[in-house]
Amino acid sequence: MELSLPAAVCPLAGRVTVPGDKSLAHRVALFAALADGESEVGNYPDSGVTRAMRNALVSLGVPSALEDGVLRISGKGQLQPNATVYCGNSCTTFRLLAGVLAATGTPATLDGSEGLRRRPMERIAEPLRLMGADVSTTDGHAPLVFSPASLHGIDYTLPVASSQVLSCLQLAALGADGVSTFRVPGPVRDHTTRMLRVMGARIVEDGLKTRVYPLRSLESLGSLGFLGALKPLNGTLPGDISSAAFLLVAAAIVPGSRITVTDVGLNPTRTGILDVLSDMGASIAISNVRETFGEPSGDVTLAAAPLHGISIGGDLVVRSIDEFPAIAVAAAFADGTTTVRDAEELRYKESDRISAIVAQLRALGADVMETPDGFSIRGGTVRGGTARANGDHRLAMSMALCGLRAPEPVVVAGAEILNESFPEFTAKLAALHCGEGSDLVK
Ligand code: S3P
Repeated sequence: MELSLPAAVCPLAGRVTVPGDKSLAHRVALFAALADGESEVGNYPDSGVTRAMRNALVSLGVPSALEDGVLRISGKGQLQPNATVYCGNSCTTFRLLAGVLAATGTPATLDGSEGLRRRPMERIAEPLRLMGADVSTTDGHAPLVFSPASLHGIDYTLPVASSQVLSCLQLAALGADGVSTFRVPGPVRDHTTRMLRVMGARIVEDGLKTRVYPLRSLESLGSLGFLGALKPLNGTLPGDISSAAFLLVAAAIVPGSRITVTDVGLNPTRTGILDVLSDMGASIAISNVRETFGEPSGDVTLAAAPLHGISIGGDLVVRSIDEFPAIAVAAAFADGTTTVRDAEELRYKESDRISAIVAQLRALGADVMETPDGFSIRGGTVRGGTARANGDHRLAMSMALCGLRAPEPVVVAGAEILNESFPEFTAKLAALHCGEGSDLVK
């Protein structure tokens, strides 16, 4: 599919919701599958990657139902053995499931799409082996084969600040026979810790160190063996700040815009995009803050103002790790140059996002430069043309946004990949254009 957004003819305005947070959705389905009882969770997003987790759980003997945005799933306390589990394009599904297979000693093969087979997997397999897991990779990549084994607690320092890796190890540690301590080189998103605690697990954080107690050590073991110690989940997911990011950047680059995205997840490990846009000059206000599943959420209002280039590095990179394709678009329409450093992890995402952002913006005429751990973009240089999504949902949506402001039309080839994460993208943008719905997207 080719996607071409016409140039905005008036500001974006109005209030809009976004589908539930994908990181939380993956965890809700997986953790609820292990809990003792039925979980019921609203605003559950239906996209390629969330279906990947639900389908994977079906192969492991735990079906779920999704109706009118409500996910219902009954914990089984165990996973069906000997399945080949296909995780599609969802690396979070893959890496979190790996931890659960190890914790439960379930023999299984984990596999995924060609894109997922390119993602590095020794970063989880190696520490899992140190815990006693019997897991082999295919030259460091998927497929991964798990055989039954008992785990022991470890003290391990992660070489990269990755929430997927930490979450995998935390889940494995729930099934170990002793306490585990994990250290991260910088702050990572902590959804796993927050949700497992709400469910009754004992996880203690101390700065960049996390101590995970095995579920077997808890007093309240349920009827489902050690996993039955986890209580089911009930509530409504906050909107995904990673989806909201595209709408916020759209409003930030179209002069005169003012939009509010309601009930967006505001976990401080995820709000880097708000800091970046505000540092660039946009005006951002938060209201109606509340909490579900131990996660803060609230309404985010952005009013456009002239953007200027900034320098982004350090912890801010991890706090906005998924948002760089969108940030690159804000930079492309800002005054001056934006520089991103300390972001080498971007090379290991759905695509090598450093090369991909640089190549695709360059295809649209922009003045960009690639560095080993980032890129720089001189604002005001996008002309228009054809960009490729390269099998990366976030690249597809970001390049499409350039069309709102570019002097010439922008076409994105392979844009159907956006259905992996935000199928409602074009409809939500159209609803904001001119404040009352418009024919922005036909
Ligand atoms: C995720 C963590 C991040 C992020 C991914 C989702 C999660 O990956 O890029 O989209 O849900 O834990 P890393 O933790 O590997 O950086």
